[in-house]
Amino acid sequence: MAAPKIMNVGIDFGSSISVISADNGVRACVPSFVGFPKDMIARKLLGKEYLVGDDAIKNRLSCNIFRPLERGVLKYSDHIEENESDYRQIVWVAQIIFNHLINLATQGRPQDFIIRACIGTPSLANDKNKQALLDLTESMMDCAQIVSEPFSVAYGMSLLSNTLIVDIGGGTVDLCRMQGVYPTQEDQLTVYKAGDYIDNVFFDLLDAKYPDANYTINMLRTFKEENATISDTDEKLVLTLPVCGRPTELDLTEELRQACSSIVPDIADAIKYLISTHDPEFQEELKGNIVLAGGGSKIIGLCEELEKYMTQSLGYGSVRRVPDPVYAGANGALMYCKDMPEDFWIELKESRVQKTAKK
Ligand SMILES: Nc1ncnc2c1ncn2[C@@H]1O[C@H](COP(=O)(O)OP(=O)(O)OP(=O)(O)O)[C@@H](O)[C@H]1O
Ligand SMILES: [Mg+2]
Repeated sequence: MAAPKIMNVGIDFGSSISVISADNGVRACVPSFVGFPKDMIARKLLGKEYLVGDDAIKNRLSCNIFRPLERGVLKYSDHIEENESDYRQIVWVAQIIFNHLINLATQGRPQDFIIRACIGTPSLANDKNKQALLDLTESMMDCAQIVSEPFSVAYGMSLLSNTLIVDIGGGTVDLCRMQGVYPTQEDQLTVYKAGDYIDNVFFDLLDAKYPDANYTINMLRTFKEENATISDTDEKLVLTLPVCGRPTELDLTEELRQACSSIVPDIADAIKYLISTHDPEFQEELKGNIVLAGGGSKIIGLCEELEKYMTQSLGYGSVRRVPDPVYAGANGALMYCKDMPEDFWIELKESRVQKTAKK
């Protein structure tokens, strides 16, 4: 039997979507949802112990659905002792997602590879959150290390100095100021109004305007992803929803615009803070290099809206979007993984072995 080969992978473990980029060229993503059949009938119907990603969402009436991350970190990982059984369930859910990604990357043959991974987490995940993530990957990876999500975006695009990355995800917006060295805590901020927040605002606005309409947050999220804009436009955004069972066309133009706009002030404040606390000699250059990533960066008109805020509060701002918002984090994490010297991985592996021996 051939000796296992080393495979480097970058993983962006997101609250909405989890993404893997591997050095064999495979790139894949899966919605971060796992469903367990609700009862014996559901199990017979689905023929599986669990479903992952779109499969889980599609069959959600037959399944209990779980998302492992909340506000960007593993649920319950701040208070494991108080929530032991819920936490164990979430660890299992996260492991299913990681296994799924690794199976995709290794084309179903994980046993043929020694997996080394860099995993992205929100900028301000604490040590407990990070350790929880590393622990749960132990059985499926040879070595893993955690990197901050916006840092991995910057690394992957070689934007290592005088750039401010703003990664707009589902649970968090993560900001990271790059100034030519590995970023410290002072260079990073996490804001909790992101894609999920937009969905909730959108839901509430609809509820107020059309109290008799029936819809789920999933339906609204899909509509948002197809139409999200905060630009002024004459185009009407219409969604057909059941009202007392009858399909009815509802105009949601203003509600969607308002919901998408609701995350802008907090992001603008965070950008202002990271610029105004930067070395004054380099502030002007930083203002010209604001780079948006993550699914939320696809909102049409967001770059221009943030530029307006920056012009008002900072005198100037230039905001652009990365070309590949979904994969930018995982690609950067992969590049970082490959660039780490061999000694680093050997030491990491040894410290893991020693820790396991002590347990
Ligand atoms: N075209 C689009 N317009 C607006 N929002 C979008 C669009 N496409 C995706 N999104 C939103 O982007 C968010 C997901 O982005 P991303 O995949 O970067 O998040 P994540 O990495 O899973 O989350 P986090 O980084 O918070 O853990 C979701 O809220 C999704 O609805
Ligand atoms: Mg993310």
